Amino acid sequence: MEFRAVRFVPRISLLLLVSIVALAAAETAHLSIDASKAGAKINRNVFGQFAENLGHGLYEGIWVGPGSPIPNTRGIRNDIVAALRALQVPNVRWPGGCFGDEYHWRKGVGPAAQRPATLNSSWGGVVDDNSFGTHEFMDFLQQIGSQAYVSINVGSGSSQEAAEWLEYMTAAKPTALAKERAANGHPESYAVGFLGIGNESWGCGGNMTAEYYLSQLKIYSHFVRNDNPSQQGPNQMLKIAVGPGTPDTEWTETIMKAWQHHDWSWNIDGLSLHWYTVPNGWPPSTPSTGFGVADYGKTLKSTLFMNDFLRKQEAVMDRYDPQKKVALVVDEWGAWHAALRDTNPAFLVQQNSLRDAILASLNLNIFARHADRVRMANIAQMINVLQAMILTNQEKMVLTPTYYVYKMYVPFQDATFVPVAFDAGTYTQGSISLPRVDAMAARDASGKLWLEITNLDPEKPVDLDVEIAGMMVKSAKGEMLTAPAVDSVNTFAAPSAVVPKPITANLKGGMLVLTVEPKSVTVISLAP
Ligand code: AHR
Repeated sequence: MEFRAVRFVPRISLLLLVSIVALAAAETAHLSIDASKAGAKINRNVFGQFAENLGHGLYEGIWVGPGSPIPNTRGIRNDIVAALRALQVPNVRWPGGCFGDEYHWRKGVGPAAQRPATLNSSWGGVVDDNSFGTHEFMDFLQQIGSQAYVSINVGSGSSQEAAEWLEYMTAAKPTALAKERAANGHPESYAVGFLGIGNESWGCGGNMTAEYYLSQLKIYSHFVRNDNPSQQGPNQMLKIAVGPGTPDTEWTETIMKAWQHHDWSWNIDGLSLHWYTVPNGWPPSTPSTGFGVADYGKTLKSTLFMNDFLRKQEAVMDRYDPQKKVALVVDEWGAWHAALRDTNPAFLVQQNSLRDAILASLNLNIFARHADRVRMANIAQMINVLQAMILTNQEKMVLTPTYYVYKMYVPFQDATFVPVAFDAGTYTQGSISLPRVDAMAARDASGKLWLEITNLDPEKPVDLDVEIAGMMVKSAKGEMLTAPAVDSVNTFAAPSAVVPKPITANLKGGMLVLTVEPKSVTVISLAP
């Protein structure tokens, strides 16, 4: 006993000493912003979501059915709707993903009791009663106040099937399909803001070559029309082609080269890009809970590759489309970790930690810096799947750290990018070097300047001084998201472990002065 006590005391003191030194040793960074310099608009669609028919993403996550004891409106969970409304979700991509290329829309319309049971072969072979179909999706969008991004079946469907689906959803004239929609409860045309023509057609969407896909794209782009009278002018539906899923540029070359000489018979408005953060490669193996700073550093290093990926594809697009008419649409991105133990591995269930929140902010900042070309993005996925906003278990719901990042970033939707100059410094973790800080700024329509700062360093706070030119700042207020550990998570039992807290930022002679805590995401509003 004595021996133990003697060893124990100095260890405690050493630990205390180390943490006191670490706490005291804040790093410093100087940022400068000229608020009069304006870049591209950060399109609000960059904050889009993805809700595939996968695991408990739709069933239980959104849809519980009208007879459920879980409070709902026409079968759609009220708690989920309230949480998502706060994010001002601009668009939701549905029904896939890989599932999109096996979805046949007719099975999901008409009286629920008469809809056939089908297999979800993409995701675990589970039985789908098709109770969540077109009308339920559109009702969900209307309840959360969002736009439809419908991904049509190119892999196992036909252009005729897709054309009929669009006519069913959008026709105002009294066609047989429009009348069927009315008989199913919706006389008015639905709006479809975005049309995804296939999904990963180089892989699960049919394993096509770029040339073969291009031939399909031309057909679908021509025949699949939006007949909604309110979507014929500037508000028209945007068509998005399948793009690359690896940094290789061959696919982008093929599509963009053809697009450069396209005639009236086909067109696209966007090219998609899928890229997940999978630090150890496929199959995903990083734990989503119970990890340390080594995994944290590796994951963030890996996610920063998004910038290089975008640059490579943009260089090709710029060659064929220097006016940047075709948007780059990152319609699947996020952290893909190992599935949680005791869950169906095909359901892609993972926890969501402070690390994922920081990863989200880094990617959103990258998209903002590429705002002239990246005009839409969809994090994968909305509820219960991969890097989710929300997790549910039956009637329980918890908001994830990533949810809070999206909430903090709402003011950046449609704001004008303003460049921030700063020396990021370096945080070193083993053999990995990362920028210590990241920052992004934008000006909203009311003239307010919004500044985001991510401190990647998990140990050291950073004392910042921010020089602001081109604007007289009268007030500054903000919120910071951090938690005790890089793997801190929100759970049903402890839902508020990682939530943003208000912070004070001081203005001293036109300079903003604040300290950002280790491993944190901060958003500050600066009002004139
Ligand atoms: O988001 C999960 C899956 O990842 C999607 O269905 C597919 O498009 C991608 O490979």
